[in-house]
Amino acid sequence: MKSILVTGGAGFIGSNFIHYVFNKTNFDGILVNVDKLTYAGNPNNLVDIDKQFGGKRYFFEKVDICDTEKIANILKSYNIDTIVHFAAESHVDRSILGPKEFIQTNIVGTFNLLECARNFWANRNDVRFHHVSTDEVYGSLGATGFFYENTPYDPRSPYSASKASSDHLVEAYKHTYNLPITKSNCSNNYGPYHFPEKLIPLLILNILNNKPLPVYGDGLNVRDWLYVEDHASAIWTILNKGIVGETYNIGGENERTNIQIVNAVCEIMAEKHNKPKDFYKSLITFVKDRPGHDKRYAINCDKIKNSLGWTQSVNFEQGLQKTIDWYLSNPEWINNVVSGEYKNWINKNYETR
Ligand code: NAD
Ligand code: DAU
Repeated sequence: MKSILVTGGAGFIGSNFIHYVFNKTNFDGILVNVDKLTYAGNPNNLVDIDKQFGGKRYFFEKVDICDTEKIANILKSYNIDTIVHFAAESHVDRSILGPKEFIQTNIVGTFNLLECARNFWANRNDVRFHHVSTDEVYGSLGATGFFYENTPYDPRSPYSASKASSDHLVEAYKHTYNLPITKSNCSNNYGPYHFPEKLIPLLILNILNNKPLPVYGDGLNVRDWLYVEDHASAIWTILNKGIVGETYNIGGENERTNIQIVNAVCEIMAEKHNKPKDFYKSLITFVKDRPGHDKRYAINCDKIKNSLGWTQSVNFEQGLQKTIDWYLSNPEWINNVVSGEYKNWINKNYETR
């Protein structure tokens, strides 16, 4: 790997991945971040990287992955040999309110990248297209069982259907054109730079602002939580040791009900603010359930653990402490995010509900 193209690098996981590559690996090539900067893309996530490596080993291109000409030019001018594809519309609730952008970016955008890569690489096999996907493509579990790499797809929201579609396109390019791909399907991430429409950062910010903590339905839906830096290290492991053509599940092995998450965040925040343990729990508000709300996700990640030697570095309690400490230490980042377009959107779509 000499020249990596990261798509969606200004978002939550992409920016953590870029930090990981520059700060925690021995990579000495160049990295190009292609991001359209939607509401979820935030250049502030990478100011430190830009300051240290900008124009030398780090390059930012504000480009839509659906733009064939620009993507083709970028592949050529930076002589890209590795693509790590994060760019997507990522929020399930938004996909329910308006699926169109999800179809455009997640399906058409992925198709465009695959086409550009196929044309530029023209049958080379010393290159790699890594596609970042989600456990949501597997549908919803009952009380027991796990998602494996060969679990049949059963997406149930416009978001997961669009990701499933992109996964199928990536597989099709492997079989039809021999494009050297790898794929990963990951569980719920949490950590620094997480956009506050998602559960954990939303809870932290609402507690800071003494606002209700919305819990969908009965709060008993289960997610498997993975600290975002562990996701970054898993992708790096796949890029370096993964077998071309293979899919790897990545998970935290940290199943929690949503109400357990809400209670845990309330308790850590109370401790940070020297309040009684249950102080913030009075903010908990049960609200109307998400339509088609998947009951339980749980990843089996034995394959990446046993065959590539990857493992998580923190347990959930450590990861949540680190996450909350990060938000409490970065009020400027929070102010910047909540003062913009996001605020208008939240006002329009949520607070009237
Ligand atoms: P995010 O919403 O925080 O970031 C997405 C980024 O993509 C943003 O910077 C945005 O500006 C950019 N983007 C969107 N449309 C674009 C376009 N057309 N062209 C170029 N850039 C565009 O998302 P995230 O949580 O960081 O997720 C990243 C990837 O990981 C997604 O593919 C998502 O499906 C997948 N994933 C996320 C999680 C999770 O828990 N967040 C778990 C599993 C998989
Ligand atoms: O499983 C991986 C997926 O995790 C990723 O593919 C998605 O991109 C990512 O957004 C995430 O999806 P979820 O829908 O699981 O994440 P979210 O943070 O939106 O919700 C987590 C759980 O909390 C879910 O069961 C819904 C619930 N929830 C969420 C919000 C925002 C609430 O109860 N209240 C809320 O206000």
